Amino acid sequence: MKEQLEAIRKCALESIGAAQDTAALEGGRVGCRGGGGERSGMLKRVGEVSPEERPAMGQLANAVRADLEQALEQRGRELDAQALEQRLKDEALDITIPGKRVKLGRRHPMYIALDEIKEIFISMGFTVLDGPEVELAEYNFDKLNAPEGHPSRDWSDTFYFDSDSRVMLRSQTSPMQVRAMETMELPIRIIAPGRVYRKDEVDATHSPMFHQVEGMVIDKGVTMADLKGTLNTVVEMLYGKGTKTRFRPHHFPFTEPSCEMDVQCHKCGGVGCPTCKGEGWIELLGAGMIHPKVLQMSGIDPEVYSGWAFGIGLERTAMRRFKIADLRLIFENDVRFLEQF
Ligand code: PHE
Repeated sequence: MKEQLEAIRKCALESIGAAQDTAALEGGRVGCRGGGGERSGMLKRVGEVSPEERPAMGQLANAVRADLEQALEQRGRELDAQALEQRLKDEALDITIPGKRVKLGRRHPMYIALDEIKEIFISMGFTVLDGPEVELAEYNFDKLNAPEGHPSRDWSDTFYFDSDSRVMLRSQTSPMQVRAMETMELPIRIIAPGRVYRKDEVDATHSPMFHQVEGMVIDKGVTMADLKGTLNTVVEMLYGKGTKTRFRPHHFPFTEPSCEMDVQCHKCGGVGCPTCKGEGWIELLGAGMIHPKVLQMSGIDPEVYSGWAFGIGLERTAMRRFKIADLRLIFENDVRFLEQF
């Protein structure tokens, strides 16, 4: 009996000591004394010995059990400590290694110019609208007083989607005038920036896709003086106080009278240089008083309301603002160019 208990103790202590992880420790428990095995057997056998021997055997059995509990606990602690040590080693961070610099992007020069324009108009109480680039010819032409047969509707200038020329890539942001008139309450003060498309070959000043910002005001008693006053203020905010402008008569089907606005050349101050092609002035935008027929087609009474509109080329504005010589730089996304802003 005694030998058996000692044998159990020896076996169990050995397997506990040899256990390399907690699973093996559990295994040792089961192997020598665990559930239904040696341990309960051990106590059962104490009951089998003679009454004289029983107290001593009971004591021994308890001592063996206590030894094993202690050994288990101790080995458990050792293994836990080892495991922790290993994890600390595996997951060690070298906080002395220099970090990776996060490369921040930059705003594109054209969007810097757009943000400036938006800010100016928002400060004057204008709302910024967004509209479809795939547009109905009805909105791009008809409702802007350019009926069938108008030269601007020609297939050689316009990207149509269908053979009956109904759906197209908008060639100007002006259809947003119509969309605003049809959906907004009067009075209206909006700008509408976005992409426009024309069948142009790419060169230093042309691209089949470019950006415009449309602007429009409709209210009672609005005149050409409001148009000039507002646009002069905008130009001074964009290009500095005292920047001179001039308005030349022009033609657009949806404005009457129509004009183009030039700004005095920032390079030569109006004397004439390569930048302004010797003119002294640089063309900036088209504008005019909204044609009464256009107001009427969108359900606004031209006897009560009047308005003005303008369309400005965004690439050109950015090129002038940042003295960029070639339009293609705006679209090529060469980081050496973009990093300069
Ligand atoms: N849509 C005209 C263009 O693309 C510009 C313009 C807009 C002119 C509004 C007058 C009024 O050339």
